[in-house]
Formats: sequence, structure tokens, C-alpha cells
Amino acid sequence: MNVYDSERMADVLAPIGYAPVETPDQADLVILNTCHIREKAAEKVYSELGRIRQHKEANKPEMKVAVAGCVAQAEGAEIMRRAPVVDMVLGPQTYHKLPEMIAKVHRKSGEVLETEFDTIEKFDSLPKTRNVKGFSAFLTVQEGCDKFCTFCVVPYTRGAEVSRPVDQIVMEARDLAAQGVREITLIGQNVDAYHAEGPDGSEWGLGELIRHVALIGGIDRIRFTTSHPRDMDDALIKVIGEEPKLMPYLHLPIQSGSNKILRAMNRDHTYDHYKQLIAKIRAARPEIALSGDFIVGFPGETEADFEQTMKCVEEIGYASSFSFKYSIRPGTPGASMHRQVPEDVKQDRLVRLQALLYKQQEDHNKSLIGKTLSVLVEGKGRKGGQLFGRSPYLTGTHFDGPEALIGQIVDVRIEEAGRNSLVGVLV
Ligand code: 5AD
Ligand code: SF4
Repeated sequence: MNVYDSERMADVLAPIGYAPVETPDQADLVILNTCHIREKAAEKVYSELGRIRQHKEANKPEMKVAVAGCVAQAEGAEIMRRAPVVDMVLGPQTYHKLPEMIAKVHRKSGEVLETEFDTIEKFDSLPKTRNVKGFSAFLTVQEGCDKFCTFCVVPYTRGAEVSRPVDQIVMEARDLAAQGVREITLIGQNVDAYHAEGPDGSEWGLGELIRHVALIGGIDRIRFTTSHPRDMDDALIKVIGEEPKLMPYLHLPIQSGSNKILRAMNRDHTYDHYKQLIAKIRAARPEIALSGDFIVGFPGETEADFEQTMKCVEEIGYASSFSFKYSIRPGTPGASMHRQVPEDVKQDRLVRLQALLYKQQEDHNKSLIGKTLSVLVEGKGRKGGQLFGRSPYLTGTHFDGPEALIGQIVDVRIEEAGRNSLVGVLV
């Protein structure tokens, strides 16, 4: 979502004369769009600000600096106190106000802070057209989260769950298609919770929205992320089974395989519920590849709990995954829970979990050898004469072909497979 937000910030700034540059040295304005999800991501902001300050002092005293995104939302004025180089702090729901903030900074040469929550106002105020590069684009359909998992900052930094109106989304998707985009990923922190009034006056969920976006000429591939097991209903599973433009790849995080830990995380589902859901999804779309998020070392996680997570991975089987050590986030319930897990135990569990997940990922890729996959060609590959694209399962795929194929969807027979990528030949 930060990628999407950064693009939209560029759209907001274009009318007042700003265009993206390749390096900070060329910039009149630097915006750090930040992530607060884990401590490591949040820490990077301050080290980056240190580098920017040095550059500003040495080479470009008139350069302005903004911190946007969820670290800005969570830490607000504290950022300006810790890093006086910062002129503007703006949360994820206020980036449409950037031109006004820049004007204020230039007029007063003071600092400006904007951290209100008004998702609807934001989307209403954004430019109607986007300036996209490439053939695959994100489109935000929903923002915020009401789930309050006890480890997670999102409900605090992104605010309550809000869905964008159907017509606004369709207009944006049409605009993307007109710019040559072939693949759209509908995004939201809890995208399955999408609901809004459809053109027929009835309440639409994500399934209806997907079917509608699929009608747009030029859009040949649709994805959506991130799902929550609690909100993935039968209507959506039906669409997964029936809509050919929807790619056979689903990111459905479970976080832990232990019911005790799932309860402590306030996930509101059990491992059995998740397993049944996966069985239904696989029945509807047998070729679907699964991806998941996992956290090890949540407070109270014993070796036996961790083994339940390993068992879950073995039983379900993932084609790709994201796995993390639990990171204490200030202000979340998890931060004050007893029985925090020591760092070395978390590290050991992460290594064991990743060994299994990475093996599954490699096995999945190897299972594709000999098969012909449709690949959306994104650009040139690393070697001369080579092209790079994405398979339906999002795997990076290299093959030889003419540059004229960039932006096309082509058939590639897979000949080699590693953990992270595939190599094939045009058919
Ligand atoms: N510690 C570790 N991982 C986290 N995630 C969210 N919050 C935390 C945290 N405090 C992970 C979850 C989520 C993904 C986006 O980030 O797995 O699904
Ligand atoms: Fe965070 Fe996702 Fe849980 Fe919402 S559902 S609180 S975004 S982990």
C-alpha cells in the first residue's frame, strides 16, 4: 500500500510542478513514506533522516523534507523533535494536503503536522487520473482495519475500515487500463471486508467488485490482497472458482498454527477454521497457489505452540510466504503481555520455519517445470536479449524474446526453477 500511496503523492504534486527524480541529490523535496509494522522498519526512518540532514546541510540548504505514512501517524510531532531537519509530518490519510502543506512551509518556514483520519476526504480530493509506469498496478479499494490483532499497529495508524465507492474504483481501473495496465491488484489492509453500494443499489462485497473490474477491456489479470480468514466468505470463494481473470494465487495469512496463540492474537479463528477454508478454496480452484504470513515468538508461544505452526505449514503447503519474528509495537496489547519470548528463541524458530517454507517454495517452483505458464512481460531481463515477467503465481520468470513483447501476456514453457525465479522459453 505504501507503493500505491507514494504514486498518489506524486500525482498530487504533479500539478504544482514536482516530478520524481532518481536520487535524493537532485531533489527539492524529499518525502520518506514510512512503515510502522515492525520495529526494524520504523527505525530505518531515523537513520535515513540522518543521511538526508547531512546532504541538506552540505549541498542543498533549501531542500524540504517530509515524513509520511504510518511512522508519521504514530509518532507525529516526536519526529520533528528528534529530527529537526523535518519540515512536514503527514499521516497516511492526509497526503492529498501536501500542496497546502508545502505552501505553508514555504510561507512561514515553520513545521507542519497533519495526522487526521479522513479516508473518504482523501480519496475525494486526489486527482482523478494517475500517472503509472508499467503494466501492473495497485489499486486501493479499502483502507484501515477493525480487527485489532493484538500484535498489530494498523488499526491505530491506518484507522478504521473504510471502503471506497464502487464508481470511484471502476473509474480508476478504467484510467489504468487506458494507460496500458493489464494487471490490477486490488489492495486493502483487510480487503475481504470490502463492502459498498453497487450501481444496482445493492450491497457489494469484494466478489462483485472483482467481477465488475473484470469487465473492463484491457484488464486481463486481477489479484487482491490482503485477505483475512474471518472475512473470506462463500461468495468470494465462488468468484475465486469462476472468474478466469482472477489469478490462481491467494495470500491468506494465518500467523500461527496454535489455537492458543491465535486466541491471544485476537485472530478470531482457529486452525481448523483456516484449514476448512483452504479446503473449500482448493475445491473451487484446484490450481491455486497459497501464500501466508507467519509470526514466531508471540508472547506465550511455547515450543509446542511453535510446532503447531510447523505442522500447519506441512499440512497446508505454501508456494510463497512472509515470516517474521514478533516485534513489540508500542501501544498494542501484545507489548504489555507477559512471557515475552527471548530473542534467541525467536531467531531459532524463524530459521526452522523459514527452512520449511523456503523448501516448499522451491518445490512449488520445481513442480512448474515442463508446464506452460502465461507470463505478463514487465521489461528486459538481466542478460542481453532476455525478458522478465510474472507468472500467474507472481513468480519472476526469465526467457529470451524480443523487446516488442514488453507489456504483452505470452506463453512460456518452464525449463528451470529456483527458489525465487523461473527460467523458460517462449512457445
Ligand atoms: N511483529 C511481527 N510481525 C508483524 N506483522 C504485523 N505486526 C507484526 C509484529 N508486531 C506481520 C503479520 C502481518 C504482516 C503484514 O506483518 O504477519 O500479516
Ligand atoms: Fe493488522 Fe491484518 Fe490483524 Fe488488521 S487483520 S489488525 S491489519 S494483522
